[in-house]
Amino acid sequence: MSTTVPAWAAADSYADALRTGRGPLFLRRDDGWLLPLEVERWCARADRVDLTVLDRCEGAVLDVGCGPGRLVAELAARGRTALGIDVSETAVARTRRLGGQALRRSVFEALPGEARWGTVLLMDGNIGIGGDPRALLDRVARLLAPDGLLIVETAPVDVDERARVRVVGIADGHAGGSPFPWARLGTPALLRYAHGWAKVDQWTAGGRRFAALRSRTASSSAEPPKRTAVISSQRTRKPSGDSPVANR
Ligand SMILES: C[S@@+](CC[C@H](N)C(=O)[O-])C[C@H]1O[C@@H](n2cnc3c(N)ncnc32)[C@H](O)[C@@H]1O
Repeated sequence: MSTTVPAWAAADSYADALRTGRGPLFLRRDDGWLLPLEVERWCARADRVDLTVLDRCEGAVLDVGCGPGRLVAELAARGRTALGIDVSETAVARTRRLGGQALRRSVFEALPGEARWGTVLLMDGNIGIGGDPRALLDRVARLLAPDGLLIVETAPVDVDERARVRVVGIADGHAGGSPFPWARLGTPALLRYAHGWAKVDQWTAGGRRFAALRSRTASSSAEPPKRTAVISSQRTRKPSGDSPVANR
């Protein structure tokens, strides 16, 4: 498999789980430790905990690593401008089927509405994308409009971990897909990494933890992304990397 194909996109077990709406599915560290992935919840409708996040969203919303799209679909149903991006073709297809707009693209590639998004979401552990939280926060700062809002779901425990993991389904046995870098952060660790960000809120709901941050760095344009601009950028592209390093 080409090293430029992000591991999530190439993981058959992830695509199968999204198609069936069922796990079990895990991220497995090299030492064998397993982090369960909540596929059933991701494939269900947005729940009351998700709504605590969506109610805080401002302006046009970019859901990074949108998975099967429950949040984008709920925002669309509310008449909000929202775009999901994900490297997994199955995730993007499912998001569109639910009525959400989605693009197959890595967060580290060029995206529509750069420096104009009102809110960026990093839900369900997606602060782990790329395995380098500082690089991801820098990238998100460049996506947001000046004073834009970032909402991050953090780990329910105080952890600051970077590891190589594989997506592992029941059918994979001990093999799993290709390894890729991932990070897991509790709120204290997130706040340590978030230089140049101001914490505006932090809350717990249904055992899940969240933090809302505002970038102190002004980006280049204050104009919100237009719905048409989002739609016209919905062509399918082959993502070029799971890691920010691959795009520099
Ligand atoms: C932990 S799952 C979260 C799932 C999701 N939030 C949901 O509602 O189902 C991580 C998601 O991020 C996507 N992803 C991984 N690397 C990415 C990248 N570089 N850019 C965009 N999405 C990425 C994966 O394909 C996967 O769908």
